[in-house]
Amino acid sequence: MPEFTHSGEDKKKYVQKMFDDISSRYDFLNHFLSLGIDFYWRKQLVKSLPKFLNQPILDVATGTGDVGFEIKKQFPHTKVIGLDYSHKMVDICRKKIDERNTPGFTVIQGDGENLPFENKEFSALTISFGFRNIGHYSRALSEFYRVLEDGGTLHILEFAEPSSKLFGAVYRWYFNTILPRIGALFSRSDAYRYLPESVEHFPPRDDLSVMIKNAGFFDIDIKDMTLGVVTLATAKKRI
Ligand SMILES: C[S@@+](CC[C@H](N)C(=O)[O-])C[C@H]1O[C@@H](n2cnc3c(N)ncnc32)[C@H](O)[C@@H]1O
Repeated sequence: MPEFTHSGEDKKKYVQKMFDDISSRYDFLNHFLSLGIDFYWRKQLVKSLPKFLNQPILDVATGTGDVGFEIKKQFPHTKVIGLDYSHKMVDICRKKIDERNTPGFTVIQGDGENLPFENKEFSALTISFGFRNIGHYSRALSEFYRVLEDGGTLHILEFAEPSSKLFGAVYRWYFNTILPRIGALFSRSDAYRYLPESVEHFPPRDDLSVMIKNAGFFDIDIKDMTLGVVTLATAKKRI
């Protein structure tokens, strides 16, 4: 019996409040609990972007902005807009942008299911460890499609169930038992029980691929990283 709700409006409300509450410890716990591998995963996500981009990049569920900063590192001349549903995550991201003096990276509070942008404004859209937290996946995907220019690209980085049985068993033990205990020492304890449960309830790779296709995208590619702990889905909007 799941402890949390994994779709709909109640999920949205829960997720928004939860990220508000854990925002001040988010970066520390992210890097600590993943032993710093999260930097590598985000780097690979940004590497999957096309080399030439005419229009800005939208980073949905930007959180504290780590994908935005990586984009600015790899694409210094490209404008990045970060958007996140949690006001406090946005505040922290804005503070980091000021502290690191990162021109061309701006952040706004907003909902990935109802994007405050015109059609076809972006060359690429990234979302890292955010899609799983969205209340209505298909609404978000049709918004992603709408705001991308023709030929624009979608890049979804997300946790997944590891492909190897043996490694999967060890990983699940860490993810379901150790991680929630460490998380509870430093932050809101339910947040680190929600994390493994939300991964368990997230659509498997094939279903994710079908959802992306149903939103109108083509050329869908799903690549695993770190023995399938994380998966990177990329797709294109038709020209
Ligand atoms: C696990 S964090 C990921 C943050 C960041 N992308 C990263 O890689 O560290 C998930 C983020 O998704 C955001 N989020 C959840 N639902 C959202 C929605 N409907 N629209 C925009 N952001 C949302 C949360 O507020 C949270 O900041």
